[in-house]
Amino acid sequence: MRGQVAVVIDVLRWSTVVVTALANGAAWVEAHALPSEASARAGRLGRERTFLGGERGNLPLPGFDAGNSPGEYGSERVRGRGVITTTTNGTQGLIAVQAAREVFVGAFVNLDALVRALARVSGPITLVCAGQAGAEALEDTACAGAIAAALGDRGDDAGTAHALRTWDTAGRDALQALARAPHGIALTAAGFGDDLTVAASHSRYDIVPACDAASAHRIVRLVP
Ligand code: MLT
Repeated sequence: MRGQVAVVIDVLRWSTVVVTALANGAAWVEAHALPSEASARAGRLGRERTFLGGERGNLPLPGFDAGNSPGEYGSERVRGRGVITTTTNGTQGLIAVQAAREVFVGAFVNLDALVRALARVSGPITLVCAGQAGAEALEDTACAGAIAAALGDRGDDAGTAHALRTWDTAGRDALQALARAPHGIALTAAGFGDDLTVAASHSRYDIVPACDAASAHRIVRLVP
């Protein structure tokens, strides 16, 4: 990814959480690979200044301030604080592309703003679907398809063509895509069904979280 532009997509639920936290006034969001690393970082920076969130197996982690439901990142909890996150796939996705020149965080909740920002980028853009345990997650592929469709991409490469087909198969309906996806079904069964409704709300926020190669996993900027 060195020198390239990437968009990290983990609709359920990390990228939706990142957009929500920043829209609600969080000072920044950091991605960490391990729960122990995230807790230690929050301890070093001070628990009053930070908000520690994340999941393993979809469930909140012991000692953390929040799990991975966007509704837990309201302004009364995150405003002015740095949000430190660790999740199974989403944070790993951001870490994997840290050499990129510019990384955006994308979800259905910021789709229009993201597409506007991407339209200004010169050169190729890689849509990085966080997926699930190294495999495809349909909700991320559908979101990539929605982004490609909005950018007018005809799908000349196989990955984009697949994403566009996945988006079309879901009837270009975000909630339908999420509700049919295995991860969406698992979250609903675990009692997190409301998170699907939130994650499917199209362009609820007009912000694009971004970071670059020098940011070391910290999302500090909003574009535009
Ligand atoms: C992840 O990073 O794997 C997801 O955000 C998991 C979740 O839905 O909490």
